[in-house]
Amino acid sequence: MFNLILFGPPGSGKGTQSDKLIHHFGLLHISTGDLLRDEVKRETALGLEAKSFMDQGQLVPDAVVIGMIDSKINDNLEAKGIIFDGFPRTVEQAKALDALLELKEHSIDSLLWLEVPEDELIKRLLQRGLEAGRSDDTREIIEKRIKEYTEKTKPVADYYKIRGKMTKIKGTGTVEDIFGRIKKAVASFIEVE
Ligand code: AP5
Ligand code: MG
Repeated sequence: MFNLILFGPPGSGKGTQSDKLIHHFGLLHISTGDLLRDEVKRETALGLEAKSFMDQGQLVPDAVVIGMIDSKINDNLEAKGIIFDGFPRTVEQAKALDALLELKEHSIDSLLWLEVPEDELIKRLLQRGLEAGRSDDTREIIEKRIKEYTEKTKPVADYYKIRGKMTKIKGTGTVEDIFGRIKKAVASFIEVE
């Protein structure tokens, strides 16, 4: 099993590039943001709890997210590999993920960090807010999400760097340019079907 963390700030292109990667390499995509938005839409107990945090641009508590990921991994142990998008978001989540995978005799192979300057992130997300409209794509909440990322999520990159698993990818340019860089980084781990 090949397990990849697609890492980066809000708007760095994690979702966009995950969509391309799953088709190219035949991997499974797990986005905690998508899973949480689905829970909110279905008005489950978990969704109602998560909504108050998401609306404020704050991270949902670790215990909620880790529980959700645990069952998702268990359901997909036969996958060729998993792309984790938007998870882990804290060092606590990273430790929990490593422990969960270790129990199944798997591990994270690589973390790819999509680097994008802050003004570009804000531009992309404001544009998405206008076009499609995710309710957290307003200037005030975008700024809060970036602050949460800087304070709580960035340390996750160091956690994997120390373990020799972190690679930075230039996250600007066209979607295809960036995908080319990611493909190169992934190709050393996995063969295309
Ligand atoms: P989440 O859904 O993970 O959102 P995010 O991290 O804020 O990131 P986005 O999904 O907005 O950006 P992305 O990097 O996927 O970029 P995308 O490809 O969409 O989390 C939402 C909330 O859920 C959090 O705030 C938190 O409350 C909660 N949450 C989720 N996971 C959690 C966790 N593990 N722990 C705790 N809480 C959690 O691209 C963005 C836009 O840019 C798109 O419009 C796209 O078309 C465009 N774009 C992409 N690439 C390019 C390019 N190369 N050039 C120009 N435009 C581009
Ligand atoms: Mg996303």
